[in-house]
Formats: sequence, C-alpha cells, structure tokens
Amino acid sequence: MSLVVENLSVHTRTGRTILKDCSWQVPTGGRLGIIGESGSGKSMSALAILGLLPEGMTASGSVRLDSEEILGLGKAQLRHIRGARIAMVFQEPLTALDPLMKVGRQIAGPLRLHTNLTKAHIQERVHELLTMVALDDTERIAASYPWQLSGGQRQRVALAMALACEPEVLIADEPTTALDATVQGEVLNLLSELVEKMGTTLVFVTHDLPVIAKVAEDLVVMRHGEIIECTTVAKGLHAPREEYTRQLVEAALSLSVRASDLGGCVSDLDVRALERDVQVSDPSARVSDLGVRGESEKAALHE
Ligand SMILES: Nc1ncnc2c1ncn2[C@@H]1O[C@H](COP(=O)(O)OP(=O)(O)O)[C@@H](O)[C@H]1O
Ligand SMILES: [Mg+2]
Repeated sequence: MSLVVENLSVHTRTGRTILKDCSWQVPTGGRLGIIGESGSGKSMSALAILGLLPEGMTASGSVRLDSEEILGLGKAQLRHIRGARIAMVFQEPLTALDPLMKVGRQIAGPLRLHTNLTKAHIQERVHELLTMVALDDTERIAASYPWQLSGGQRQRVALAMALACEPEVLIADEPTTALDATVQGEVLNLLSELVEKMGTTLVFVTHDLPVIAKVAEDLVVMRHGEIIECTTVAKGLHAPREEYTRQLVEAALSLSVRASDLGGCVSDLDVRALERDVQVSDPSARVSDLGVRGESEKAALHE
C-alpha cells in the first residue's frame, strides 16, 4: 500500500501555521525516514495523516492510501483504517498502552475490533504476536500490566499491538528515543525485520540521523513545518542538495567525533567533510581513526 501526502497543511484555531504544503510519498513496502529538529512538525505530520490532530487544529491537502483519499474522513471511517490498515507506534509506549489493562487484553483489542476471530483464536494470536516481538514467557507478559514491564518490553508490546492486524502502513514516531542505546538498537532491528517480513510500508519519524540510516531508504528533511528536501538516505548523507541537510549531516558527524556514536554513517561520508569537521570540533581526533571505526561499524550495519 503506497502512502501519498500532497500539500498537507495544518493550522491552529488562531491561524498559526504548523505544517505548510508538505508533499512526500512512500511506495508499497518502502521505508521512509522523516528527519527534523524538535518542533519541526514531524509528529503533527503523523497525527494529521491518522486524523488525530489536537483539538482546534485543522488539516488541508491530500493523504492517499493507494488512490483512496483518507484526509477528512469521518471518525467512524478513520477508526476502520487506524489499527487495521495504518498502525502507529509512539515514542512513549505508555501513551498507547492503558495502564489499567493487562497487556494481553490490550493486544487483543485491535483483533477484536477489526477481525472476526473467535476468542480462542485471538488468545492464540496474542501469544503468537508476543513471540514475534521476541518476548519470552508470553503467558507472564500477557498477564502483566504495562508498569510491570521494562521500557524495551513495553515498546515491543506496543509494536505487537500495532502489527496485530498486519497493517499495510506503519507510522513510527521516535519509537526508540526514550530507550537506552542497547535496547534502542534491539528494538530498531526488530522493527526493521518485522516490517520487511510483513511487507509493511514504513514511515519512521526521528530527530536522530543515525537511526534513519539504519531503518530507512528514502529521506524527508523537515524544518519549521516545511519540507526542505526529499531524497534517499544514501544521497542525503553523501550529497545533500540543501544546505540545511548538509548541516544536519555535519552536526551528526560532529557528535560522532565526540561520542563515537554515529554507526555506519561515518564511513558513508567523504573524507573532506570529516577533516573539516575534525578541525572544527576536536583538534586531537585523527581522521584515520574515524575511518577505521567507520568501516567496522559499516560492516556491523550490513551483517
Ligand atoms: N497541542 C498543540 N497545540 C498547539 N501547537 C502545538 C501542539 N503540539 C505541538 N504544537 C506545535 O506544533 C509544531 C510542530 O510540533 P511537532 O510536530 O510536535 O514537532 P516534532 O515532532 O518535529 O518535534 C511546534 O511548533 C509545536 O510547538
Ligand atoms: Mg515529535
């Protein structure tokens, strides 16, 4: 299922422009990353697509699932689409999970709503889904409340719930930002594996360029509610067309010089950019060191 967003604009009741004429698309089974600094309009884009904008905000333009217009559909029609055909995972799984309901019942929710499965089959499917997101001891997890689980476990549960009805499109809004680095990597790998296996079209929103490099093939760069550049991840890193994209890449790079945390991106960038950056941010760092680390991390990335 392809997702096409055309001239999407969002305004507040008081006339403030939150999104201005945003256009981008993802082909069926494609993986799009939307990057931009905090406040650039990434979450509002996701919420507008899903018909979940905060009270008082209005959207205009077009959002099409294949050729079907979904922007402006009524609440009842949107309920049919959300969770069934387009699903979402958010930064904080607790916003998606009900604190007072056991996890198993919550994962069963979309199955009860959108399928004709019998009670017994739903139970079976819940355990299958928990196994799918690599949670052991599915009986215990299903019988737990969200607060009894770790952050990583909760995000796996949220992912199981999102994928329960095998949606055609998954919108993930900073799903790993709140997790610590190791868990973040695990959940990212899991998400990538699952959407690939299921052929799900992915829209992945983050402020974190290295994360995009891991999960997406196409790239949309946002700033101040507008689209700065639509490109591929490879081109965005190697040969950004826009000055702002170049600044994002260099900012990520300069962080990597300090924190050795850029994953495969370092080796994807040209040496001149590295030299320039090293001179700016850390006179003692050596470009050859970066090269070695970049290569080994690139290898790890392609394993
Ligand atoms: N509930 C709200 N009411 C009014 N403005 C909001 C609300 N939520 C977010 N905004 C504004 O919308 C803009 C885009 O925010 P958002 O999409 O959340 O950014 P991002 O997800 O890229 O960090 C920001 O300027 C933010 O201040
Ligand atoms: Mg956001």
